[in-house]
Amino acid sequence: MLKVSNTEEIVFTPELITKFNEIVARYPEGKQKSALLPILHLAQAEYGWVSTPVMDKVAEFLDLKPIEVYEVATFYTMFFLKPQGKYVLEVCRTGPCCLVGAEKIMKYIEQKLEVKEGEVTPDGLFSWRGVECLAACGMGPVLQIGPEYTFYENLTEAKVDELIDGLRLKTAEKAQII
Ligand code: FES
Repeated sequence: MLKVSNTEEIVFTPELITKFNEIVARYPEGKQKSALLPILHLAQAEYGWVSTPVMDKVAEFLDLKPIEVYEVATFYTMFFLKPQGKYVLEVCRTGPCCLVGAEKIMKYIEQKLEVKEGEVTPDGLFSWRGVECLAACGMGPVLQIGPEYTFYENLTEAKVDELIDGLRLKTAEKAQII
């Protein structure tokens, strides 16, 4: 994942442009706006979030007005409008999950990571946030971890420890190999 600031000039890689073109080709001529959502997903996967320069460049690529991209990216909560951690922990905070302890789990994550909702840990590894229903209401509390959106049910504090410690270990092991 590339790091990008909110002022940086964006140049899409040839590989990314190839993927964009494959998506645009799925739609009729002149209907390239239909490719906007999947292209924003790809851009976010590449840069970690959709900064204004990234949105502007997507607009240029699809021959749209920048506002047409902004209004989509700001409507859907799956698009990040500021930098996030390498792993984003998303806890369902809708009623059924709250009844079985989702708020307690969010508080626990906040204490464990020592960052508030939407902030990034100093090592750049984690951020977290509450999200609306993740469609596993009978198995709460529920959490998904981006960018791969792995899904975990029946969360406990011990399970949260296992997940976060596991990701820290995995990252440290990868760094040693490199
Ligand atoms: Fe949490 Fe539906 S209320 S998954």
